[in-house]
Amino acid sequence: MSNQNLGLETQAIRTQLERTQYLEHSVPLYLTSSFIFEDAEDMRASFAEEKERNIYSRFSNPNTSEFVEKICQMEGAEDGYAFATGMAAVYSTFVALLNSGDHIVSASSVFGSTHTLFTKYFPKWNITTSYFDVNKPETIENFIQPNTKILYAESPTNPAVDVLDLELLGIIAKKHNLILIIDNCFATPYIQNPIQFGADLVIHSATKLIDGQGRVLGGVTVGRSDLIREIYLFARNTGPALSPFNAWVLSKSLETLPVRIEKHCENALKVAEFLENHPNVASVKYPFLKSHPQYEVAKKQMKLGGNIVAFEIKGGIESGRKFLDKIKLCSLSANLGDTRSIVTHPASTTHSKLSEEERLAVSITDGLVRVSVGLETVQDVINDLKQALE
Ligand SMILES: Cc1ncc(COP(=O)(O)O)c(C=O)c1O
Repeated sequence: MSNQNLGLETQAIRTQLERTQYLEHSVPLYLTSSFIFEDAEDMRASFAEEKERNIYSRFSNPNTSEFVEKICQMEGAEDGYAFATGMAAVYSTFVALLNSGDHIVSASSVFGSTHTLFTKYFPKWNITTSYFDVNKPETIENFIQPNTKILYAESPTNPAVDVLDLELLGIIAKKHNLILIIDNCFATPYIQNPIQFGADLVIHSATKLIDGQGRVLGGVTVGRSDLIREIYLFARNTGPALSPFNAWVLSKSLETLPVRIEKHCENALKVAEFLENHPNVASVKYPFLKSHPQYEVAKKQMKLGGNIVAFEIKGGIESGRKFLDKIKLCSLSANLGDTRSIVTHPASTTHSKLSEEERLAVSITDGLVRVSVGLETVQDVINDLKQALE
């Protein structure tokens, strides 16, 4: 039966590429670095890509193929490749597609390491980047140059939870013949499918909500098969592949993604509503709160609001640090998208090396706190935030 007409939950659970002679119900773990050939002709034809088969686990492996196939189905993508981390996916995708002299137009607010790639590493190869203000997408076209090749954004963004109009980005990319790449990590394939709005490629850090339990690192890029072919060839030769074990874990995780995300989002909305009414909180950003500046856009393109809530604590950096010190139940951790709720204060931690001006350019104010709402009893999370705020 083709999985194309099945529901997303069924795709996440029932996509199984092959069974061994044991007819196992749950997909086994294929811990093997290579695969064998019948004879010299089989080996020649396999290397010539006349046959679709596994040769070496840096190229493909049944576990990584199953994981990629599930993400492709859930995102509505033609093809994909799985990476060891989300950053390996981001890096390899750009490097596989760009040449020296090319230009990127990116949203100003992107994940810190992605920003570092654009500012520190890509200029070494004469690849330059211009940034548009996430709150002024109408200015994007001002940054497009004759050598612009990629339009890049996250939505919602990390850590400020800004939302970009994917339909608008799709229209601009098409008009200027740009490759539109969306990092869909905060939304997951359950909440939002950027390809529907014109994205050519979608990237995920599978380390976050796709694993959802803080166990393994992983990344994946899916989308247009001609672009994935370039990415695959780059990855096959440079080696950022996802391990079969992590692929197996992530593939199992996808089976519960829809139910986990429903609960994460239900809890996050309650946390956002609580914070919005707290006197020590200056403002709250959550895509499905009416007060979010891009609420209408979020409602148009997202099924649910996600599990990340950003809020501005009154009193700036000092209050942010004190707030973290008072947290008892939630974790202080660099990860997000876990069953355990996690609280971070970017200005005094992940982004402390940036000047205030640089932080503001990427929407990180001194009092910004990011909460990744987990799956605990939500009242316990709210009580923890409440006592820390007071
Ligand atoms: C939006 C976004 N993209 C990419 C990454 C990188 O993923 P990884 O940590 O798996 O390399 C992260 C990590 O937090 C992220 O939040």
